[in-house]
Amino acid sequence: MALRNILTEGNPSLYKVCRPYGEFNQRLAVLLDDMAETMKKANGVGLAAPQVGIARRCCVVLETNVEDEGEEYIIELVNPEIIAFDGEQEGYEGCLSFPGQYGCVKRPEHVVVRAFDRHGNQFEVEGFGLTARAFCHEIDHLDGHVFVEKCDEILTEEELMALHEEEDGE
Ligand code: NI
Repeated sequence: MALRNILTEGNPSLYKVCRPYGEFNQRLAVLLDDMAETMKKANGVGLAAPQVGIARRCCVVLETNVEDEGEEYIIELVNPEIIAFDGEQEGYEGCLSFPGQYGCVKRPEHVVVRAFDRHGNQFEVEGFGLTARAFCHEIDHLDGHVFVEKCDEILTEEELMALHEEEDGE
């Protein structure tokens, strides 16, 4: 496994529609392993292939909704599609490609994704809360969309922290 370089705002790779996989080969497996390692190192909850310069439809998401004793785990999605969603959540979101930038984005509270695993087996996976948000955010990346497009206002990390303190004080 190897760390990949995470591309940032302005890099053309982030704004392209990615091509689906037709073949599930070793190259894909290596990419998914590298993306998982890169995401963990950067303390992210999701990373999409275009963020590391690969214009193909795959991403990794960290499932953080686990039982007390459970461990967070990585979900690999190849050619993912949202097939159902409901509810609504509004909250601040960030992106490893936009370090230090946070914006309020409305997302569904619950989504169901259909995707393939690295071996080409199709499966469905559900996400709630942060995981639903991450699924939507990462799949947007595969269509060349970034979260800042959906925000009226971008906050810095200090502004976000100040906002949270204000809310906690209420
Ligand atoms: Ni992102």
